[in-house]
Amino acid sequence: MPVRIFFHIVIVLLISCLNAEAGQESITLHYPPDGSVLEYNMLEISMSVPAGSADSIKVYVNDEEEPLNVIADQEYECFSVQLKLGVNRINIIAVKGDYQVYKTELKVFRRSDLASEYIKTPDGFKKDFFHMKEWKQCARCHILSPIEYDRKPISPYTFKNMDKQALLAVTSTCYMCHNKITANKYVHGPAAVWSCLSCHDPEAEPKYSVKKPDAEICYECHTEQKKDRSLKKYSHGPVTIGKCTICHSPHASENPFNLVKPTWNLCVNCHAEKASGMHVLGDSMFKEGHPTRNRPDPVRTGKELTCASCHNPHASNYPHLWAFEVETIFDLCQKCHNKQTDDVKPN
Ligand code: HEC
Ligand code: HEC
Ligand code: HEC
Ligand code: HEC
Ligand code: HEC
Ligand code: HEC
Ligand code: HEC
Ligand code: HEC
Repeated sequence: MPVRIFFHIVIVLLISCLNAEAGQESITLHYPPDGSVLEYNMLEISMSVPAGSADSIKVYVNDEEEPLNVIADQEYECFSVQLKLGVNRINIIAVKGDYQVYKTELKVFRRSDLASEYIKTPDGFKKDFFHMKEWKQCARCHILSPIEYDRKPISPYTFKNMDKQALLAVTSTCYMCHNKITANKYVHGPAAVWSCLSCHDPEAEPKYSVKKPDAEICYECHTEQKKDRSLKKYSHGPVTIGKCTICHSPHASENPFNLVKPTWNLCVNCHAEKASGMHVLGDSMFKEGHPTRNRPDPVRTGKELTCASCHNPHASNYPHLWAFEVETIFDLCQKCHNKQTDDVKPN
């Protein structure tokens, strides 16, 4: 080998080593990888920003005008942004003075069982299991092995009387990274006290996956529901296949009963043709159909009329999963309409 070429190789190697050294000193995005698939509406972002390398980090989600602006005052910046369903384009830009010192673009896909166009993951995207890697660099500040406080014995039947002080969230190792998962109005009991390991198994493969089908996990604690439903004649499609989390978030949501959408929207999601109420009342006289929302429920005081006013979302002994103990349509109407006075009033 001519000496000159050898000399060049040495120089090239030297330069790349120096770059690698310098690389550790530069701004680096650690999570998420490009092309990840998520179901949850928040994207967790974690990057190292060495002291003095940038003043701030701007994150644009789908080119929105107001980026998230993170003041770069720590060597590690961990934050999160909100995702819409489907493909999201994330642009991360670090700024120092008047200059862009770092720039990257990545795409993530948020899938959902409830949106037909987003059930299937498009080509080029795949689920990345965060907890399948060791993440030594995160362990400097975060605890990545679960402790006993991450699993607490809690039953829906004693929950109200429990001493929740003793079950505080801050005792959970999951809290520091996943605190957004319970930041909603309605929080599911075990998530509210950060008993994450009630459902997520650290021994599972992939780590923390939920090994049992939904319903089996849910019925472990909701034993009365299990008993009640096994006695019913008819069961609702998604319940029959054990898909409780198609309707209920196991963590938290903005809707009562931790429903992933308000009841009416949830039902209409799969039964669009029933939204009009024409299936209840539809003839030449009632071209508008029967109301299915935006009216007070005459039977369940304080609640709004919804699909669940007439149908049980889980199971029933009566036709069409009726929520009343009636065998005929006429008797059903009577539950809310007084036959003598025609008032909307239970008999
Ligand atoms: C130098 C210490 C440090 C390191 C290293 C670090 N973090 Fe953090 N992280 C923090 C602190 C402090 C918080 C709480 C931040 C806050 O609430 O402002 C946090 C919060 C988080 C959050 C929650 C952010 C949010 O807004 O919901 C996630 C997720 C996270 N870290 C992931 C990671 C990951 C992944 C790594 C490794 C790639 C990592 N962190 C490395 C210090 C660190
Ligand atoms: C260092 C921060 C950190 C800690 C501590 C942490 N997680 Fe995570 N976890 C993440 C990030 C980042 C993701 C990927 C983004 C997402 O799906 O939310 C994730 C994803 C997950 C997932 C989805 C599957 C996967 O591997 O991507 C589950 C389930 C989960 N975490 C459960 C837990 C539980 C339970 C605990 C506590 C015992 C915990 N995590 C502690 C950061 C953390
Ligand atoms: C009642 C059971 C239950 C409890 C309690 C629970 N989870 Fe989950 N979690 C689930 C199920 C079911 C999924 C969906 C997983 C799947 O489809 O494999 C899930 C998914 C997740 C994911 C992935 C999010 C996504 O959609 O990509 C994360 C992260 C997570 N859980 C974190 C937590 C944390 C942190 C806690 C504690 C506050 C917790 N979970 C408590 C049942 C539970
Ligand atoms: C570890 C035990 C546990 C598991 C597993 C569990 N739950 Fe719960 N659930 C509770 C507790 C505790 C409450 C809170 C009861 C209260 O607020 O009084 C609750 C409350 C609920 C509520 C609200 C009930 C109401 O009347 O407001 C719903 C809905 C629910 N759970 C659904 C589910 C679903 C769906 C699953 C499976 C994905 C599940 N649960 C798994 C313990 C559990
Ligand atoms: C098709 C959507 C859907 C599915 C699937 C579903 N639920 Fe529900 N669930 C609802 C709705 C809607 C309500 C609120 C009903 C109301 O307004 O009275 C509810 C209420 C509840 C409640 C509180 C009230 C009660 O009936 O005790 C619990 C607990 C519950 N669900 C558990 C479950 C479990 C466990 C599963 C799976 C076996 C499941 N749900 C599957 C829609 C669903
Ligand atoms: C994820 C999709 C999905 C959601 C959400 C959903 N359903 Fe269904 N529903 C089904 C399937 C699947 C069937 C079974 C279809 C069949 O057997 O023809 C069904 C059947 C029904 C039936 C007919 C039962 C019978 O025996 O005639 C009623 C009534 C019903 N659903 C009401 C509701 C109500 C009320 C809600 C909201 C609380 C709801 N559905 C939400 C998928 C869904
Ligand atoms: C006022 C009571 C009432 C309300 C509100 C109501 N339904 Fe119905 N539903 C009925 C009756 C009555 C039937 C039986 C119709 C028949 O057999 O002609 C029925 C039947 C059904 C069926 C089974 C029909 C079939 O073709 O097998 C589904 C699915 C259904 N309803 C869904 C819904 C949804 C979704 C909503 C909310 C948008 C809703 N219902 C609101 C009374 C109601
Ligand atoms: C869960 C209670 C409930 C049941 C069951 C019920 N309705 Fe109604 N109905 C209502 C409510 C609430 C209204 C709206 C009253 C108002 O506008 O103030 C209404 C309105 C009506 C109207 C007036 C419609 C309009 O737009 O002016 C008719 C007619 C009617 N119902 C017929 C029926 C028939 C027929 C049945 C049986 C197939 C039935 N209802 C079952 C609650 C119910």
